[in-house]
Amino acid sequence: MEKLKIEGGFPLAGSLRVQGAKNAILPILAASILNGGKTVLFDCPYISDVEISERILRELGVTTKREAETFMVDSSSLNGYEISEDLMREMRSSIVFLGAILAKMGRARLSMPGGCELGPRPIDLHLKALRQMGVIVVEEHGFMDCHAEKLHGAKIYLDFPSVGATENIMLAAVLAEGETVIANAAKEPEIVDLQDFLNSMGAKITGAGGSVICIEGVKKLHDAEYRIMPDRIVAATYLAAACITKSEIELVNVRSTHIESILSVLSDMGSKLFVETTRVIHIPGKRIHSVGTVRTMPYPGFPTDAQSPFMAVSTLAQGSSIFIENIFESRYKHVGELIRMGADITVDGSVAVVRGVPRLTGARVAAMDLRGGAALAVAALAAEGTTEITGVHYIDRGYERIEENLSSLGAKITREDEICPQKRR
Ligand code: UD1
Repeated sequence: MEKLKIEGGFPLAGSLRVQGAKNAILPILAASILNGGKTVLFDCPYISDVEISERILRELGVTTKREAETFMVDSSSLNGYEISEDLMREMRSSIVFLGAILAKMGRARLSMPGGCELGPRPIDLHLKALRQMGVIVVEEHGFMDCHAEKLHGAKIYLDFPSVGATENIMLAAVLAEGETVIANAAKEPEIVDLQDFLNSMGAKITGAGGSVICIEGVKKLHDAEYRIMPDRIVAATYLAAACITKSEIELVNVRSTHIESILSVLSDMGSKLFVETTRVIHIPGKRIHSVGTVRTMPYPGFPTDAQSPFMAVSTLAQGSSIFIENIFESRYKHVGELIRMGADITVDGSVAVVRGVPRLTGARVAAMDLRGGAALAVAALAAEGTTEITGVHYIDRGYERIEENLSSLGAKITREDEICPQKRR
């Protein structure tokens, strides 16, 4: 069991390149089985969710290879249609393979995703849409067995603009017969990245980034090379780290249009921002202002994934801030840990009220989910004394070498083995 040890109170400085986006690479890796050929992906981050996706691809008979940030897939040998229960349990978002496996194999067998660290994660919208496209779904003994002799296009209205459901439908529809129209589709930038990747393989998709996406089925796709978009949540997390430590830092490989809601909150908090298309410089204000109310919303609203890092910042703001979590239940697991560090937060259902305190103090805390873990690291950077964060595997799901990146900016952070510290010396 590894832990992060952070000595707080040191300002950050310097420049950091933002990694490729976790939420873009995962559906794109699923999409890479669709061309029955070669795919080369650039800027593939070193995170454990990519490792799990790689294990899924191999389980499906696909060949994969990595050279630094370049990830290569050869799906000409695809022969499986099943994802083992272990892999489904390790990464709930493996559900995004469902549409792609069905499109290629006509059958898919996956265990039900069930609950996860963010609360129940239903897939009713995914299954309803796939049924409309001709899929027969049998749910038995905790497994979904899905068959489709022939997938056909359909007009699908999503009751909620679910990111995963939109992606699964796109993946199922590219090789289906006829046209699929998704109304009330998710508008997240990662959906645009998936569209652009699929189109680079010869798919005919338009409309991603808006609420109506049209997919005209094609018979065949070809080899492709594609660069993954920068991770907007990782960018948001490092900006939160700069804000809480009152530091000037530069982020490169950012798409600033993707983080407008984040930049707006930072500016409300008193930060000055120098913004270019692919670069952001954070200049701290004299003090951190409270943010009023932050409501998590589907894109282009404030992302649920950035709620916890920004809550960490608001613990040291002057005055009170209110967070309203509208996307997931159980997304306040970091609150108890922030309170251990001296934060003053009360939660009532989906509402968290954060009253700013003059200081946080280092403590032993546990990451309980990916972004909540990152929030603890953000808080620790500004806390007096040393913070030890366990549950680092959650953080590793989405942040590439977090300790190296923060160290390069001047943070005092090390990764240690919880049981045998000498192993890492
Ligand atoms: C994706 C992101 C995750 C992000 C989330 C919201 C990936 C790998 N993960 O997750 O980081 O926090 O979008 O931006 O891209 N829902 C249903 N039925 C369904 C599907 C979803 O009720 O069939 C509900 C969910 O319970 C949740 C909401 O819709 O309350 C949003 O979920 P969704 O957009 O699907 O999120 P994910 O794709 O799981």
